[in-house]
Amino acid sequence: MSGSNDHIDGNVRRYGKQAIAMAADRLQSGGLVAVPTETVYGLAADSTNAAAIADIYRTKGRPDFNPLIVHVPDMGSASELGIFNDLAATLAHKFWPGPLTLVVPKTADCRVVPAVTAGLDTIALRCPAHPVMQELLKATQLFLAAPSANKSGGISPTRAAHVENSLGSATPMILDGGSCESGVESTIVAIRGDNYEILRPGPVTAERLCESIGRPAIINQSPSIEAPGQLASHYAPSKPVRLNAETADHDEYHIGFGPISGHSCLSKNADLAEAASNLFATMHVADADDRPRIAVAPIPETGMGIAINDRLTRAAT
Ligand code: TXA
Ligand code: MG
Repeated sequence: MSGSNDHIDGNVRRYGKQAIAMAADRLQSGGLVAVPTETVYGLAADSTNAAAIADIYRTKGRPDFNPLIVHVPDMGSASELGIFNDLAATLAHKFWPGPLTLVVPKTADCRVVPAVTAGLDTIALRCPAHPVMQELLKATQLFLAAPSANKSGGISPTRAAHVENSLGSATPMILDGGSCESGVESTIVAIRGDNYEILRPGPVTAERLCESIGRPAIINQSPSIEAPGQLASHYAPSKPVRLNAETADHDEYHIGFGPISGHSCLSKNADLAEAASNLFATMHVADADDRPRIAVAPIPETGMGIAINDRLTRAAT
Protein backbone atom coordinates (compact mmCIF):
# COMPACT_ATOMS: atom_id res chain seq x y z
CA MET A 1 0.00 0.00 0.00
CA SER A 2 1.24 3.51 -0.73
CA GLY A 3 1.74 6.02 2.04
CA SER A 4 -0.70 8.51 0.49
CA ASN A 5 -3.59 9.68 2.59
CA ASP A 6 -6.41 8.74 0.29
CA HIS A 7 -5.07 5.51 -1.13
CA ILE A 8 -7.63 3.68 -3.29
CA ASP A 9 -7.78 -0.10 -3.52
CA GLY A 10 -11.07 -1.44 -4.90
CA ASN A 11 -13.74 -0.38 -2.43
CA VAL A 12 -11.18 0.54 0.20
CA ARG A 13 -10.36 4.22 0.78
CA ARG A 14 -7.62 4.98 3.23
CA TYR A 15 -8.80 7.49 5.85
CA GLY A 16 -8.13 11.10 4.87
CA LYS A 17 -9.95 14.34 4.06
CA GLN A 18 -11.05 13.23 0.60
CA ALA A 19 -12.19 9.83 1.80
CA ILE A 20 -14.30 11.40 4.55
CA ALA A 21 -15.91 13.76 2.02
CA MET A 22 -16.68 10.85 -0.30
CA ALA A 23 -18.07 8.72 2.53
CA ALA A 24 -20.22 11.61 3.78
CA ASP A 25 -21.57 12.11 0.28
CA ARG A 26 -22.50 8.43 -0.05
CA LEU A 27 -24.22 8.36 3.34
CA GLN A 28 -26.15 11.54 2.62
CA SER A 29 -27.45 10.06 -0.61
CA GLY A 30 -28.64 6.89 1.11
CA GLY A 31 -25.60 4.67 0.55
CA LEU A 32 -23.74 2.36 2.92
CA VAL A 33 -20.15 2.85 4.14
CA ALA A 34 -18.08 0.54 6.34
CA VAL A 35 -16.42 2.60 9.05
CA PRO A 36 -13.89 1.80 11.78
CA THR A 37 -14.82 2.33 15.43
CA GLU A 38 -12.71 1.58 18.50
CA THR A 39 -14.50 -1.81 18.81
CA VAL A 40 -15.13 -3.27 15.34
CA TYR A 41 -15.91 -1.95 11.84
CA GLY A 42 -19.55 -0.87 11.45
CA LEU A 43 -21.75 -0.90 8.33
CA ALA A 44 -23.16 2.61 8.50
CA ALA A 45 -26.25 4.24 6.98
CA ASP A 46 -28.54 7.20 7.64
CA SER A 47 -30.88 6.03 10.41
CA THR A 48 -33.69 8.26 9.08
CA ASN A 49 -33.64 6.74 5.58
CA ALA A 50 -35.82 3.62 5.27
CA ALA A 51 -34.28 2.43 2.00
CA ALA A 52 -30.74 2.77 3.37
CA ILE A 53 -31.66 0.82 6.52
CA ALA A 54 -33.30 -1.90 4.41
CA ASP A 55 -30.01 -2.10 2.52
CA ILE A 56 -28.09 -2.75 5.78
CA TYR A 57 -30.35 -5.71 6.62
CA ARG A 58 -30.10 -7.03 3.05
CA THR A 59 -26.32 -6.67 2.83
CA LYS A 60 -25.74 -8.45 6.14
CA GLY A 61 -28.47 -11.07 5.63
CA ARG A 62 -29.65 -9.92 9.03
CA PRO A 63 -33.04 -11.00 10.39
CA ASP A 64 -35.33 -7.97 10.57
CA PHE A 65 -36.19 -8.60 14.24
CA ASN A 66 -32.61 -7.73 15.25
CA PRO A 67 -32.41 -3.96 15.89
CA LEU A 68 -29.43 -1.72 15.11
CA ILE A 69 -27.26 0.56 17.25
CA VAL A 70 -27.47 4.28 16.36
CA HIS A 71 -24.21 6.24 16.62
CA VAL A 72 -24.31 9.85 17.78
CA PRO A 73 -21.58 12.50 18.07
CA ASP A 74 -22.44 13.58 21.62
CA MET A 75 -24.91 13.51 24.50
CA GLY A 76 -26.91 16.45 23.10
CA SER A 77 -27.75 14.51 19.92
CA ALA A 78 -28.40 11.34 21.90
CA SER A 79 -31.13 13.06 23.87
CA GLU A 80 -32.98 13.92 20.65
CA LEU A 81 -33.47 10.20 20.12
CA GLY A 82 -33.59 8.64 23.58
CA ILE A 83 -34.85 9.53 27.05
CA PHE A 84 -32.02 9.67 29.56
CA ASN A 85 -32.92 9.33 33.22
CA ASP A 86 -30.30 10.10 35.88
CA LEU A 87 -28.78 6.64 35.67
CA ALA A 88 -28.48 6.73 31.87
CA ALA A 89 -27.03 10.24 31.99
CA THR A 90 -24.47 9.21 34.62
CA LEU A 91 -23.30 6.29 32.47
CA ALA A 92 -23.15 8.43 29.33
CA HIS A 93 -21.12 11.12 31.07
CA LYS A 94 -18.75 8.59 32.54
CA PHE A 95 -18.16 6.35 29.50
CA TRP A 96 -18.89 8.44 26.36
CA PRO A 97 -17.27 8.75 23.97
CA GLY A 98 -16.38 5.07 24.23
CA PRO A 99 -17.39 1.43 23.83
CA LEU A 100 -20.68 1.56 25.75
CA THR A 101 -24.15 1.28 24.15
CA LEU A 102 -27.15 2.41 26.18
CA VAL A 103 -30.65 1.03 25.56
CA VAL A 104 -33.16 3.69 26.61
CA PRO A 105 -36.80 4.54 25.77
CA LYS A 106 -37.26 6.35 22.45
CA THR A 107 -38.31 10.00 22.54
CA ALA A 108 -41.82 10.79 21.23
CA ASP A 109 -40.36 12.53 18.17
CA CYS A 110 -37.47 10.14 17.60
CA ARG A 111 -36.63 10.51 13.90
CA VAL A 112 -35.10 7.11 13.19
CA VAL A 113 -37.16 4.81 10.98
CA PRO A 114 -38.98 1.92 12.76
CA ALA A 115 -36.81 -0.74 11.09
CA VAL A 116 -33.77 0.53 13.03
CA THR A 117 -35.32 -0.42 16.35
CA ALA A 118 -37.17 -3.44 14.89
CA GLY A 119 -40.41 -2.03 16.23
CA LEU A 120 -39.21 -1.83 19.87
CA ASP A 121 -40.03 1.27 21.91
CA THR A 122 -36.42 1.45 23.07
CA ILE A 123 -33.34 2.54 21.12
CA ALA A 124 -29.69 1.49 21.42
CA LEU A 125 -27.40 4.56 21.38
CA ARG A 126 -23.64 4.79 21.31
CA CYS A 127 -21.22 7.71 21.11
CA PRO A 128 -18.02 6.21 19.67
CA ALA A 129 -14.53 7.50 20.49
CA HIS A 130 -12.86 6.58 17.20
CA PRO A 131 -11.71 9.74 15.37
CA VAL A 132 -12.80 8.46 11.94
CA MET A 133 -16.37 7.69 13.06
CA GLN A 134 -16.50 10.98 14.99
CA GLU A 135 -15.34 12.93 11.94
CA LEU A 136 -17.94 11.21 9.78
CA LEU A 137 -20.75 11.94 12.25
CA LYS A 138 -19.79 15.62 12.18
CA ALA A 139 -19.30 15.76 8.39
CA THR A 140 -22.68 14.14 7.66
CA GLN A 141 -24.71 15.65 10.50
CA LEU A 142 -26.52 12.30 10.46
CA PHE A 143 -27.32 9.77 13.16
CA LEU A 144 -25.63 6.68 11.76
CA ALA A 145 -27.11 3.23 12.31
CA ALA A 146 -24.25 0.73 12.17
CA PRO A 147 -24.19 -2.98 12.97
CA SER A 148 -20.88 -4.79 12.74
CA ALA A 149 -19.81 -4.93 9.07
CA ASN A 150 -19.97 -8.72 8.64
CA LYS A 151 -22.52 -11.21 7.32
CA SER A 152 -25.08 -11.95 10.04
CA GLY A 153 -23.79 -14.62 12.43
CA GLY A 154 -20.19 -14.37 11.17
CA ILE A 155 -16.99 -13.16 12.83
CA SER A 156 -16.89 -9.40 13.46
CA PRO A 157 -14.38 -7.37 11.41
CA THR A 158 -11.52 -5.53 13.11
CA ARG A 159 -9.72 -4.65 9.84
CA ALA A 160 -10.84 -3.41 6.42
CA ALA A 161 -9.85 -6.73 4.81
CA HIS A 162 -12.19 -8.63 7.16
CA VAL A 163 -15.12 -6.55 5.91
CA GLU A 164 -14.35 -7.45 2.30
CA ASN A 165 -13.87 -11.13 3.18
CA SER A 166 -17.21 -11.29 4.95
CA LEU A 167 -19.43 -9.17 2.70
CA GLY A 168 -17.82 -10.25 -0.60
CA SER A 169 -19.40 -8.72 -3.70
CA ALA A 170 -21.87 -6.80 -1.51
CA THR A 171 -19.00 -4.81 0.06
CA PRO A 172 -19.69 -1.06 -0.09
CA MET A 173 -17.06 1.65 0.26
CA ILE A 174 -14.78 0.94 3.24
CA LEU A 175 -13.11 3.78 5.11
CA ASP A 176 -9.85 2.14 6.14
CA GLY A 177 -8.70 3.41 9.53
CA GLY A 178 -6.47 0.46 10.39
CA SER A 179 -7.08 -2.09 13.16
CA CYS A 180 -9.73 -1.57 15.83
CA GLU A 181 -8.22 -1.16 19.25
CA SER A 182 -10.76 -2.77 21.63
CA GLY A 183 -11.49 -5.62 19.27
CA VAL A 184 -14.79 -6.78 20.78
CA GLU A 185 -18.13 -5.03 20.36
CA SER A 186 -19.38 -2.41 22.78
CA THR A 187 -20.88 -3.35 26.12
CA ILE A 188 -24.68 -3.05 25.85
CA VAL A 189 -26.49 -1.83 28.96
CA ALA A 190 -30.28 -1.58 29.15
CA ILE A 191 -31.63 1.01 31.55
CA ARG A 192 -34.46 -0.44 33.69
CA GLY A 193 -35.70 2.53 35.69
CA ASP A 194 -33.17 2.92 38.49
CA ASN A 195 -31.50 -0.37 37.64
CA TYR A 196 -29.44 -1.55 34.72
CA GLU A 197 -28.94 -4.85 32.93
CA ILE A 198 -25.90 -5.91 30.87
CA LEU A 199 -27.29 -7.29 27.60
CA ARG A 200 -23.86 -7.91 26.06
CA PRO A 201 -20.53 -7.95 27.97
CA GLY A 202 -17.81 -5.84 26.34
CA PRO A 203 -14.88 -3.49 26.89
CA VAL A 204 -16.65 -1.57 29.66
CA THR A 205 -16.59 -4.32 32.27
CA ALA A 206 -19.22 -5.16 34.91
CA GLU A 207 -16.72 -4.04 37.58
CA ARG A 208 -16.32 -0.57 36.07
CA LEU A 209 -20.09 -0.17 35.68
CA CYS A 210 -20.64 -1.23 39.27
CA GLU A 211 -17.93 1.17 40.48
CA SER A 212 -19.45 4.17 38.76
CA ILE A 213 -23.07 3.39 39.72
CA GLY A 214 -22.40 2.02 43.18
CA ARG A 215 -24.42 -1.16 42.63
CA PRO A 216 -24.21 -4.22 40.40
CA ALA A 217 -26.29 -4.86 37.28
CA ILE A 218 -29.53 -6.78 37.61
CA ILE A 219 -29.51 -10.17 35.93
CA ASN A 220 -31.74 -11.41 33.15
CA GLN A 221 -34.98 -9.75 34.19
CA SER A 222 -36.74 -10.43 30.89
CA PRO A 223 -36.78 -14.07 29.81
CA SER A 224 -37.13 -13.20 26.09
CA ILE A 225 -34.09 -12.49 23.95
CA GLU A 226 -34.00 -8.73 23.75
CA ALA A 227 -30.61 -8.37 22.08
CA PRO A 228 -30.66 -11.03 19.36
CA GLY A 229 -26.90 -10.53 18.94
CA GLN A 230 -26.99 -12.60 22.09
CA LEU A 231 -28.40 -15.61 20.24
CA ALA A 232 -26.52 -18.75 21.27
CA SER A 233 -24.73 -19.18 17.95
CA HIS A 234 -23.03 -16.05 16.66
CA TYR A 235 -19.56 -14.81 15.71
CA ALA A 236 -19.15 -18.26 14.21
CA PRO A 237 -16.27 -19.36 12.00
CA SER A 238 -17.06 -21.92 9.29
CA LYS A 239 -15.57 -24.83 11.29
CA PRO A 240 -15.95 -26.42 14.74
CA VAL A 241 -14.45 -24.59 17.71
CA ARG A 242 -13.30 -26.36 20.92
CA LEU A 243 -12.76 -24.28 24.05
CA ASN A 244 -10.51 -24.63 27.13
CA ALA A 245 -7.97 -26.54 25.07
CA GLU A 246 -4.60 -26.77 26.86
CA THR A 247 -3.26 -28.74 23.91
CA ALA A 248 -4.46 -29.27 20.36
CA ASP A 249 -4.83 -32.27 18.06
CA HIS A 250 -2.89 -32.35 14.79
CA ASP A 251 -5.94 -31.29 12.79
CA GLU A 252 -6.73 -28.29 15.00
CA TYR A 253 -5.54 -24.70 14.64
CA HIS A 254 -4.63 -23.81 18.21
CA ILE A 255 -5.30 -20.28 19.48
CA GLY A 256 -3.08 -19.73 22.51
CA PHE A 257 -3.16 -17.47 25.55
CA GLY A 258 -0.44 -16.71 28.11
CA PRO A 259 1.94 -19.66 28.52
CA ILE A 260 0.03 -21.68 25.87
CA SER A 261 1.59 -20.43 22.61
CA GLY A 262 -0.55 -22.34 20.09
CA HIS A 263 -0.22 -21.52 16.38
CA SER A 264 -0.85 -17.92 17.34
CA CYS A 265 -1.20 -16.45 20.79
CA LEU A 266 -3.86 -13.88 21.79
CA SER A 267 -1.49 -12.44 24.39
CA LYS A 268 1.83 -13.91 25.50
CA ASN A 269 1.70 -11.78 28.66
CA ALA A 270 -1.83 -13.01 29.46
CA ASP A 271 -3.08 -9.42 29.03
CA LEU A 272 -6.86 -9.63 28.51
CA ALA A 273 -7.18 -6.25 26.74
CA GLU A 274 -4.50 -7.32 24.26
CA ALA A 275 -6.25 -10.68 23.83
CA ALA A 276 -9.60 -8.97 23.10
CA SER A 277 -7.95 -6.71 20.58
CA ASN A 278 -6.46 -9.74 18.75
CA LEU A 279 -9.47 -12.06 19.13
CA PHE A 280 -11.43 -11.61 15.91
CA ALA A 281 -8.35 -11.13 13.69
CA THR A 282 -6.99 -14.42 15.06
CA MET A 283 -10.33 -16.16 14.48
CA HIS A 284 -10.26 -14.93 10.86
CA VAL A 285 -6.77 -16.45 10.46
CA ALA A 286 -7.82 -19.71 12.12
CA ASP A 287 -10.89 -19.88 9.89
CA ALA A 288 -8.77 -19.46 6.74
CA ASP A 289 -6.20 -22.06 7.87
CA ASP A 290 -6.08 -25.52 6.22
CA ARG A 291 -6.75 -27.35 9.47
CA PRO A 292 -10.45 -28.31 9.69
CA ARG A 293 -10.99 -27.47 13.37
CA ILE A 294 -10.11 -24.75 15.87
CA ALA A 295 -9.05 -25.17 19.51
CA VAL A 296 -8.77 -22.26 21.94
CA ALA A 297 -6.72 -22.11 25.16
CA PRO A 298 -8.54 -21.33 28.44
CA ILE A 299 -9.21 -17.61 29.04
CA PRO A 300 -9.74 -16.40 32.65
CA GLU A 301 -13.35 -15.36 33.36
CA THR A 302 -12.51 -11.92 34.80
CA GLY A 303 -12.64 -8.32 33.47
CA MET A 304 -12.38 -8.31 29.65
CA GLY A 305 -12.12 -12.10 29.80
CA ILE A 306 -15.89 -12.19 30.33
CA ALA A 307 -16.52 -10.53 26.94
CA ILE A 308 -13.90 -12.75 25.27
CA ASN A 309 -15.46 -15.93 26.67
CA ASP A 310 -18.94 -14.69 25.73
CA ARG A 311 -17.86 -14.38 22.06
CA LEU A 312 -15.90 -17.66 22.12
CA THR A 313 -18.83 -19.59 23.58
CA ARG A 314 -21.12 -18.32 20.83
CA ALA A 315 -18.46 -19.13 18.22
CA ALA A 316 -18.32 -22.69 19.56
CA THR A 317 -22.11 -23.18 19.62
O1 TXA B 1 -19.25 -2.09 19.11
C1 TXA B 1 -20.39 -2.12 18.60
O2 TXA B 1 -21.41 -2.06 19.26
C2 TXA B 1 -20.45 -2.27 17.07
C3 TXA B 1 -19.92 -0.97 16.46
C4 TXA B 1 -20.03 -0.95 14.95
O3 TXA B 1 -20.58 0.13 17.02
N1 TXA B 1 -21.79 -2.53 16.63
C5 TXA B 1 -22.40 -3.73 16.85
O4 TXA B 1 -23.65 -3.83 16.28
O5 TXA B 1 -21.89 -4.62 17.49
P1 TXA B 1 -24.43 -5.21 16.11
O6 TXA B 1 -25.58 -4.90 15.24
O7 TXA B 1 -23.52 -6.25 15.63
O8 TXA B 1 -24.97 -5.50 17.53
C6 TXA B 1 -26.01 -4.69 18.04
C7 TXA B 1 -26.69 -5.36 19.17
C8 TXA B 1 -27.55 -6.52 18.74
O9 TXA B 1 -27.31 -7.60 19.63
C9 TXA B 1 -28.95 -5.96 18.92
O10 TXA B 1 -29.87 -6.99 19.19
C10 TXA B 1 -28.77 -5.02 20.08
O11 TXA B 1 -27.54 -4.41 19.81
N2 TXA B 1 -29.81 -3.98 20.15
C11 TXA B 1 -30.04 -2.97 19.28
N3 TXA B 1 -31.11 -2.24 19.64
C12 TXA B 1 -31.59 -2.78 20.77
C13 TXA B 1 -32.69 -2.49 21.64
N4 TXA B 1 -33.52 -1.47 21.41
N5 TXA B 1 -32.86 -3.28 22.72
C14 TXA B 1 -32.03 -4.31 22.97
N6 TXA B 1 -30.96 -4.64 22.18
C15 TXA B 1 -30.76 -3.90 21.10
MG1 MG C 1 -22.61 -8.04 15.09
